[in-house]
Amino acid sequence: MLLQHKSVVITGAGSGVGRAAAVLFAQHGARVVCADINLDWATETARLAGADAVPVLCNVTQRAEVEAAIDLACDRFGRLDVLYNNAGVATASDGRPHRLIDQDDADFDRLMSINLRGMVYGCQAAVRRFDAQGGGGVIVNTASVAGLIGWGGVMYGASKGGVVQLTRALAIEVAKQGIRVNAVCPAGMMTNFGRTEGAGFAERAAEEVARYAEMHPLGRPIAAEDCANAALFLASDLSSNITGVMLPVDGGLTAK
Ligand SMILES: NC(=O)c1ccc[n+]([C@@H]2O[C@H](COP(=O)([O-])OP(=O)(O)OC[C@H]3O[C@@H](n4cnc5c(N)ncnc54)[C@H](O)[C@@H]3O)[C@@H](O)[C@H]2O)c1
Repeated sequence: MLLQHKSVVITGAGSGVGRAAAVLFAQHGARVVCADINLDWATETARLAGADAVPVLCNVTQRAEVEAAIDLACDRFGRLDVLYNNAGVATASDGRPHRLIDQDDADFDRLMSINLRGMVYGCQAAVRRFDAQGGGGVIVNTASVAGLIGWGGVMYGASKGGVVQLTRALAIEVAKQGIRVNAVCPAGMMTNFGRTEGAGFAERAAEEVARYAEMHPLGRPIAAEDCANAALFLASDLSSNITGVMLPVDGGLTAK
């Protein structure tokens, strides 16, 4: 029970890592606000996470919606202990190549506003709340190995590189307030990320599993649960003297 009675907000909780984390954190005693731009998915996550979980519609590009998700945790559970800033999107999922020269202003704005600005909004709201509560508190951000090495698309990498530096710099800024800020950096996961159903989906997915298995030295794709386990460690007191770290969850990819 690593998060017994902790009040947690998870963004992007409707799918993949966010859903796995909501279920895992709840198993460890947390009361979880499951925030997502897709309310149906968030509702299903809250159902899976159990009685103390609550879904909320939240587009992380809207400051007021991020603040409302944190307010909801405080209203329902009395305080905020952990923010897991996890919502993120891939470079265009419409089949276009991911090279920089194939992307336009709209692609840039979409990636930066969801992957980076959304996390800034979460950090600002959480730090203000932690301060009002008298200090302490934990933020975990989902960055990516794409924020550490050249991998997975240039604009996407730039957005996740921003998350890496947001995490490091904020960790230093708020250390004296007893607030810890860390990031998980997953590699290739078979979630809904950047994938659209349709003709050839199953074949593409099978090809991707094989490619990921080849790419990661440990020989398999990263599971959403692998990333959730790392986030649980960083969210819990097991990591009470750890701040400002980027924890790769990558089967050895960045060590290669
Ligand atoms: N899947 C991968 O290969 C991979 C690799 C490295 C990092 N990541 C990162 O992991 C995180 C989780 O991704 P995932 O693999 O679980 O993907 P996913 O697509 O399965 O889940 C992402 C969730 O975020 C939600 N979301 C999207 N835009 C949103 C917005 N504006 N506001 C609120 N919610 C929004 C989606 O509805 C979805 O429920 C992301 O930050 C992603 O960048 C993923």
